[in-house]
Amino acid sequence: MKTIHMRLGKRGYSIYIGNHLVAKLGCLLKIKSKNTPIFIISNKKILKLHGAALRKGLRPLTKNLIFHTTPDSEKAKSFGVYKKTMAVLSKKTKKATPFIIAFGGGVVGDLAGFVASTYRRGVPYAQIPTTLLAQVDSAIGGKVALDIKEAKNIVGSFYQPQFVLCDLGFLDTLPLKELKNGLVEVVKCAVIKDAGLFALLEKNLSRIIKREKALLEAVVLRTAAIKARIVEKDEFDNRDIRAVLNFGHTFGHAIEASACYTKSISHGDAVARGMIMASFVARELRMLEDKDYKRIISLIQRLKGKKVARLNVKKVLRSLAFDKKFTKGTNKFILPKKIGCAKPVEKVPRRLIRKTIER
Ligand SMILES: NC(=O)c1ccc[n+]([C@@H]2O[C@H](COP(=O)([O-])OP(=O)(O)OC[C@H]3O[C@@H](n4cnc5c(N)ncnc54)[C@H](O)[C@@H]3O)[C@@H](O)[C@H]2O)c1
Ligand SMILES: [Zn+2]
Repeated sequence: MKTIHMRLGKRGYSIYIGNHLVAKLGCLLKIKSKNTPIFIISNKKILKLHGAALRKGLRPLTKNLIFHTTPDSEKAKSFGVYKKTMAVLSKKTKKATPFIIAFGGGVVGDLAGFVASTYRRGVPYAQIPTTLLAQVDSAIGGKVALDIKEAKNIVGSFYQPQFVLCDLGFLDTLPLKELKNGLVEVVKCAVIKDAGLFALLEKNLSRIIKREKALLEAVVLRTAAIKARIVEKDEFDNRDIRAVLNFGHTFGHAIEASACYTKSISHGDAVARGMIMASFVARELRMLEDKDYKRIISLIQRLKGKKVARLNVKKVLRSLAFDKKFTKGTNKFILPKKIGCAKPVEKVPRRLIRKTIER
């Protein structure tokens, strides 16, 4: 087992990474008594695949396990599902303070974390992420949220878990498309912070996609550590440090929004395109050498999902103006200077943005 310590003072915690780690859950989880209700938020698909292993891992701990399932889609991050979850939680745990476990991908993690942060003004919880994206990204950093019709992730808080347990064995059942979604975020972290990780991906991508455990462990460990080191310096996202994690996301979100968040383009495909576009802008601005640009493009193209429709330039431009970080008539883009290093850039000429979308 490998461990990353998230150094956040009193709110610090460990991120455990390894194969078949869930079997050790009983030793990692600290609860007050054997009567503490453990409230597991998940969905039917994940419980069918991995519920027995989780139950086995928890067996030595408690007599009081409660499984609560939510819909298997972004719809689970809604007020309706939140309200229902709160009602079940309160009914089943009565006066006791429960321990909550988020057992699933980023959707379950965001919902369960928000439930934990608001139930009785905050109860302890753990993240047990089962997708690659959740293991390297969403389960780390304490951002928890719900969506409303007007905007994704707009209702939320910062609430750190007691620990994060990344069992690489869960990734064996993950559909290829979901694995690739996670790998897009891995590439993002490699481009902004870790040239060594980037080279490892270039050399071993096909073996990673075959889910060779030693390589997956290295990928999850290095990527989760990049996110942890960034979050430590900017826990509440108000020091402009966490912003570097937005590489590929300014264009990516605009592409998703211009497709009105339909399934026609996944988050991973939108961010993959967004990273290509941001790298193109960086090369045009002579910030990024052509050889690094070509390496970035060729790695991302190896992860490409299904072909997506041509972008509607006007719609993407309009969506860019609605970005959270759009101020004074300009977007703030995170642009690579070289592989392993990126910086925020404002005032990218509008004609270059248009040219990039058209390309
Ligand atoms: N909080 C944050 O900092 C943060 C960061 C990035 C993304 N997010 C959020 O994360 C969400 C996306 O997360 P995601 O990509 O994990 O998607 P997801 O949670 O929807 O999971 C993808 C699919 O894989 C299934 N699945 C999960 N684990 C599985 C397994 N081991 N085997 C087989 N199938 C499995 C799920 O049931 C689902 O159908 C979005 O809501 C996004 O807003 C949050
Ligand atoms: Zn993302």
